[in-house]
Amino acid sequence: MLSYRHSFHAGNFADVLKHVILIQLLEYLGKKDAPFCCIDTHAGAGEYALDSDYALKNSEFATGIGKLWQRHDLPDAVARYVQLIKHANHSEMTRYLGSPLIAQQLLRKQDRLFLYELHSTDVDLLTAAIGRDKQVKVFHADGLKNAVGLLPPQERRGLVLIDPSYELKTDYTEVVNTLIAMHKRFATGTYALWYPVVERSRNKALENALQTSGIKNIQLFELGIAADTDEHGMTASGLIIINPPWTLTAQMQTVLPWLVDALGNDGAAFYRIHTLVEE
Ligand SMILES: C[S@@+](CC[C@H](N)C(=O)[O-])C[C@H]1O[C@@H](n2cnc3c(N)ncnc32)[C@H](O)[C@@H]1O
Repeated sequence: MLSYRHSFHAGNFADVLKHVILIQLLEYLGKKDAPFCCIDTHAGAGEYALDSDYALKNSEFATGIGKLWQRHDLPDAVARYVQLIKHANHSEMTRYLGSPLIAQQLLRKQDRLFLYELHSTDVDLLTAAIGRDKQVKVFHADGLKNAVGLLPPQERRGLVLIDPSYELKTDYTEVVNTLIAMHKRFATGTYALWYPVVERSRNKALENALQTSGIKNIQLFELGIAADTDEHGMTASGLIIINPPWTLTAQMQTVLPWLVDALGNDGAAFYRIHTLVEE
């Protein structure tokens, strides 16, 4: 039984980095007219009310989008993200878009989006948030097990976002097995794996497993708002990207130091840009 609900966390510092990069990946795919396919294996509810009891319980959005909303000095990639969220709001920020709705906004008429969500409440919310849209298909199913069956997509161009909650500790190994299986079927696809830093040893094991997976061209981008600790929950998070656009590292070299200043708790905030496996 899954208890994780993204509504408690929507718009936090981890969502900021994840969604900034997601937009960059999708906009890069959208530069060519040829269609692309996007698969989100852990879709969540699609959108979140920031004035709900869930969001207000710990007000995590205040550590993320809440610190960016009013700023006028945003780097381009962050400005694009804030613009997209602002577009979904009126004068006050009460609505946050999750990865499915962000992706839906960026589809052109030739593109397709596949969404997997296991939680029965969130899959209903997701279906309602997506609305009637022939380009989008929502599955109430296990994305880690089933999405591999969609590969290679008929478009032969695309992005797979893997964004588990890591509620199950087996997720750390399952994501690697899934990426290996997916990459075997669709080696030219772009893959984005989100991870939290809660206990650094788990991240080291995840990075080692990917480094010895046989998959090439893997880049890591991480934002830490505080120093590593085993005591206070998530202090950093990142995305591991297989086959990133060639422009992404240079963009993140501007974006990540800026986010460290904007979102960091103190002088121990940090970022990492690391090539896990060369091209
Ligand atoms: C971190 S949240 C997703 C957030 C979303 N991707 C976003 O950025 O807006 C993870 C979601 O995955 C769901 N989930 C957990 N295990 C899953 C699985 N094996 N397949 C599909 N969904 C799963 C959880 O119910 C939760 O809603």
